[in-house]
Amino acid sequence: MRVASRRVWSTSAVAALSLGLFTIVAAAQQKQTTGAVKNPVAASPSSIAAGKKLYDSQCASCHGAAGKGDGKAGAMLKPTPSDLTDTDWKHGQTDAEIFTIIRDGSKQTGMRAYGSRIPTNDIWNLVNYVRSLGPKTTKSH
Ligand code: HEC
Repeated sequence: MRVASRRVWSTSAVAALSLGLFTIVAAAQQKQTTGAVKNPVAASPSSIAAGKKLYDSQCASCHGAAGKGDGKAGAMLKPTPSDLTDTDWKHGQTDAEIFTIIRDGSKQTGMRAYGSRIPTNDIWNLVNYVRSLGPKTTKSH
């Protein structure tokens, strides 16, 4: 009788413990994907310049030379390319969210995934450049 009840206790303790651990791990992973990723590249003049160079060659055709979303190649697209200079961020305004949309693209739109074409470091340079275009929205990492 005593032994049995102790076994029941320890089984539920183990269950509770693993549930707790699972919750912690899940929460940590959640954090990673919801914008807690820090931009590892400082928005230095050289990073922004590197981002601009890439932007001019790969992005301006759609998003426009100044980022207004008015590039010639984007005119026929639906949805049209985003204005990157306003405060309206359809896919989120944190560095990590801007990084993610450039890396993964936006399905069913003209916004392709650049993750396999542009090295990670350069995507962060692009993030820094894109940020430098618009009004200073809440800078979060
Ligand atoms: C072929 C046209 C095209 C090109 C080239 C292109 N984009 Fe886009 N981009 C789009 C479209 C269309 C959207 C809107 C997607 C949506 O509405 O979900 C978009 C959305 C975005 C967004 C999200 C804006 C927001 O409001 O959340 C960012 C950031 C962005 N593009 C950056 C870039 C960068 C950086 C490049 C170059 C590496 C690039 N784009 C190249 C068409 C393009």
